[in-house]
Amino acid sequence: MLLEVRDLRVEFRTRDGIAKAVNGVEYAVDAGQTLAVLGESGSGKSVTAQAIMGILDMPPGRITGGEILFKGRDLLKLKEDERRKVRGAEMAMIFQDALSALNPVLTVGDQLGEMFVVHRGMSKKDARAKAVELMDRVRIPAAKERVRDYPHQFSGGMRQRIMIAMALALEPSLIIADEPTTALDVTVQAQVMDLLAELRRELDMGLILITHDLG
Ligand SMILES: Nc1ncnc2c1ncn2[C@@H]1O[C@H](COP(=O)(O)OP(=O)(O)OP(=O)(O)O)[C@@H](O)[C@H]1O
Ligand SMILES: [Mg+2]
Repeated sequence: MLLEVRDLRVEFRTRDGIAKAVNGVEYAVDAGQTLAVLGESGSGKSVTAQAIMGILDMPPGRITGGEILFKGRDLLKLKEDERRKVRGAEMAMIFQDALSALNPVLTVGDQLGEMFVVHRGMSKKDARAKAVELMDRVRIPAAKERVRDYPHQFSGGMRQRIMIAMALALEPSLIIADEPTTALDVTVQAQVMDLLAELRRELDMGLILITHDLG
């Protein structure tokens, strides 16, 4: 198994006491598979994803039990610097709201390129070429010109593709998508879902898809 979550428990300390947000979640996903996570609002889908990614707000959050086995290692037992390496290169997350996930004052080319400069030590010029390649890969038309544009200059669907490109940059083996298409209209939702499914097959990634409906 690529990822196995066992008996995960997460609590939040609030003014009114302890709120148990996740109570013994179990799931698993292998390379090349999609796991759809469904559940009512507030049932802990996003909190579970944050715990896997290591981006849970702690405090007020606290992981009180369970294991998150990724490629056989329990992520909950790793030191923060090891955890950061896993988060940067081996797993990535896609959110509902691309506009707030992307930096408004950097061109998409600079943001995509930064991944390669910071994590792969590439020159700015090479990183720019990789950015265009990624934008092509997620099928953004005229990538070579659009690489100089800012996030607000793209449509919602195209912005979502840019966030997918960011997530793919370092070729992670796991992607967690938290309601990635909820903010888009129905035809665009289908296109973005098709793209994700295709990339998952092509790159043999595990995909955890948090969703409200099975569409
Ligand atoms: N930072 C936080 N501080 C306190 N409580 C939190 C925090 N984040 C989440 N919670 C609580 O944890 C519970 C689970 O929240 P979560 O966001 O995982 O739900 P969800 O299943 O993703 O819901 P939705 O479908 O609405 O996105 C909720 O009761 C929520 O209020
Ligand atoms: Mg959620």
